[in-house]
Amino acid sequence: MPGKQLIILAHGGAGSDNAHSDGTDRACQLGLELMQARTPVLEAVCRAVAILEDDSRFNAGTGSRKRTDGSVRMDAACMDSRRRFGAVSEIQHIKNPIHVACGVADSEYQLLTGEDAHQYAVELGFKKVDLTRIESHAPGTDTVGAVVFDGDQFAAALSTGGTGGSRPGRVGDVPLIGCGLYVGEHGAVCATGHGESITLNLTAYRTYEMLGQGIAPQEALETAYGWFEDSQDIGLLIISRQGNAGGSNRNMAWSILTGD
Ligand code: GLY
Repeated sequence: MPGKQLIILAHGGAGSDNAHSDGTDRACQLGLELMQARTPVLEAVCRAVAILEDDSRFNAGTGSRKRTDGSVRMDAACMDSRRRFGAVSEIQHIKNPIHVACGVADSEYQLLTGEDAHQYAVELGFKKVDLTRIESHAPGTDTVGAVVFDGDQFAAALSTGGTGGSRPGRVGDVPLIGCGLYVGEHGAVCATGHGESITLNLTAYRTYEMLGQGIAPQEALETAYGWFEDSQDIGLLIISRQGNAGGSNRNMAWSILTGD
């Protein structure tokens, strides 16, 4: 009997340089290897996104862009088709916010914010890191993300330094369920781009609903693009039981990898 088809898509954010797809390739490679080792999909997708957080060419983790006050404040979220969801917002001084979001998914909570999210990360054993001393090489790029399917379960994860130059306290789509990401029995969706527009459009949930109606991922992607003005960046990764699609109305480094 043939094995299950495994698949992962990863992106470096709307506006990222297509030439940086070596970074998204590495994220896909790790995610695929983890699924091949039967790692749960939520852990596999979060560890893939951590690779992107560690790549300063992308606006997340160590590459996060600074806010108006010079601080680095990050949001991250993850979800799987068993309805586990975890998120952090406005977290500071943590190298891999996606791992903290994954920790929240295992807790009684779904979203922790600000200094209390940092305190939770410390309790989980994460070290304090001064990210303001690390130079971001991600001008004008957005959230990183990935979606996976192991032939049984789906998962998605997102991480961002937010919109560079925005005021402290501003939170975009990433930690808001159904806005930046949504996952269920029909598939997984993650978005990148202008957070306020992604949120107003309930982008991930409405895209996911199309998958539930049997609409193919590529058609769902093109329909979702139509919800955005030309001036608003949007990128999406989508997996359903019918296939997958990825793209952006801007440049976007992204990769796809399959295996069994
Ligand atoms: N899309 C990420 C943000 O706007 O914060």
